[in-house]
Amino acid sequence: MFYDDPKKHNLKHNPFKALIAPRPIAWVSSVDLDGVPNLAPFSFFNAISDNPPMIVFAPNGLRPTGHGKDTLRNIQQTNEFVVNLSNWALREAMNASSAEVGPEVDEFALAGVTATPSTHVNVPRVKEAPASLECRFLTRISLPSTSPKTENNIVIGEVVGIHIDDAIIRDGMIDTAAYHPLARHGYMDYSAVDSVFEMLRPDV
Ligand SMILES: Cc1cc2nc3c(=O)[nH]c(=O)nc-3n(C[C@H](O)[C@H](O)[C@H](O)COP(=O)(O)O)c2cc1C
Repeated sequence: MFYDDPKKHNLKHNPFKALIAPRPIAWVSSVDLDGVPNLAPFSFFNAISDNPPMIVFAPNGLRPTGHGKDTLRNIQQTNEFVVNLSNWALREAMNASSAEVGPEVDEFALAGVTATPSTHVNVPRVKEAPASLECRFLTRISLPSTSPKTENNIVIGEVVGIHIDDAIIRDGMIDTAAYHPLARHGYMDYSAVDSVFEMLRPDV
């Protein structure tokens, strides 16, 4: 099959996100100017460099006038955020934090996870997370949107500190089976990775 109009795929549901899968999940914590913590998952997310380490994620949806993402507003006001990484054990908490609640709601409490101080940023991280990346906001790029009511953005952050739960480190490497990272597929589907295989690059 082939389609080029996103509304005319003729399938039961739009397949786009199911094709670009699995996607890692950035479980982003931020704070507003009053210090109210915020926590929300974003699966339009990835690492984009390692020298320095930088990440990108995409807070999309209604424009701020129609209540845009609290995460984006907070990051632009404070210039800091934390990307917590989630795993199988935290799947329900991660999902609970995606509830579209008002900016006054502390989503750490809503999700039942513990806010613990970060080292270089004034934003709490999720204590239970297998890893957390402390980030400084570098830039936001506003992208095209098909509706005047919604916006698409990417946020790029530089990682300035990394916390790793010692339980997922074995022989000096991240042990995927212990980490059990959670990933987003299409529809309402997820996966949790518990095995990997090794493949060396061609030796030219
Ligand atoms: C697994 C998962 C992934 C999500 N990925 C995104 C995403 O990439 N971009 C986005 O704008 N919203 C995404 N959402 C929805 C946001 O988490 C949701 O709109 C949240 O309420 C935003 O919170 P905020 O307003 O506190 O920033 C995702 C939700 C879930 C459950």
